[in-house]
Amino acid sequence: MKRTRHFASDNYSGICPEAWAAMAEANAGHEVSYGDDLFTQRAADRIREIFETDCEVFFVFNGTSANSLSLASLCQSYNSVLCHELAHVETSECGAPEFFANGSKILLLGGANGKIDPAEIEPAVKKRTDIHYPKPRALSLTQATEVGTVYSLAELQALTETARRHGLRVQMDGARFANAVASLGAAPAELTWRAGVDVLCFGGSKNGIALGEAVVFFDRELARDFDYRCKQGGQLASKMRFLSAPWLGMLKDGAWLRHAGHANAMAARLAAGLQSIAGVKISHPVQSNGVFAQLPKVAEAQLHARGWHFYTGVITPDESRLMCSWDTTPEDVDAFVADLREIAG
Ligand SMILES: Cc1ncc(COP(=O)(O)O)c(C=O)c1O
Repeated sequence: MKRTRHFASDNYSGICPEAWAAMAEANAGHEVSYGDDLFTQRAADRIREIFETDCEVFFVFNGTSANSLSLASLCQSYNSVLCHELAHVETSECGAPEFFANGSKILLLGGANGKIDPAEIEPAVKKRTDIHYPKPRALSLTQATEVGTVYSLAELQALTETARRHGLRVQMDGARFANAVASLGAAPAELTWRAGVDVLCFGGSKNGIALGEAVVFFDRELARDFDYRCKQGGQLASKMRFLSAPWLGMLKDGAWLRHAGHANAMAARLAAGLQSIAGVKISHPVQSNGVFAQLPKVAEAQLHARGWHFYTGVITPDESRLMCSWDTTPEDVDAFVADLREIAG
């Protein structure tokens, strides 16, 4: 069966109407290139308003470059970055953070449900303090995490305080930051710079933008020469207005949080439906737009045969990842659940 929507990834979805309209508006006439245009200036200003601070903002093409270049701006080549063992920067960026930071090493931390256990930071920092080992310099947190959980404000503060105590700067991979904000219902400022985050990679594409993320430096000193890093890393868009203008649509009237909240609600609906099916086990608390579940083995192939795309075992072994988007409908969710219920017997 040909389906129009899937649960494989939140970037399977298209562009949301608000981002699309803002892009169309930016398409009238000529504009100054390389980010010196009015749309880019206005989008950066709007981000400063949302975060209630005079942060420095850059628009790049994707999450890998946002993470890699922001980490590179925190590190020297002899430094290391601490992150969760499931972090995208470790598992899914083809070594780009190490590459762009000229060899900085990624060190892995454990913790349940995709969240770093703060107790793991000190042993990792103190494991070696001699000159033969890379010097820890940054903590990278993913919010929402790779398995759909969300750090509470208290959890964030515990991590950033520990990081500070050990001289680490804090970078946040916020590919799904909107989902985390919608889930927690707290102000973006509370969940970032007021909680000790130095730089945020603010995700756009999973929220409904065509492509692109905003790199938001709360400590402007860390952003020094970041424009050069972007250019050298192939991330300075000549027609920058098409990366930046969609943010104006998203950030106007709370569209970003509406879409993220909707995706989260669809994930909650999906989890509730799955929970009622024998043989299905939800693997992690469902706190954003993703559901991780162990499905009956026989079900997977049959769901695929019925046209549903989703991945199993990619992020975590034996777990299927089901992601909801801004355009996932209750009918999509119910149809998936009904198919699984029928297959599982
Ligand atoms: C946690 C996380 N960070 C970052 C990204 C962004 O990666 P990309 O370079 O594909 O935009 C993703 C996308 O899957 C992600 O899940």
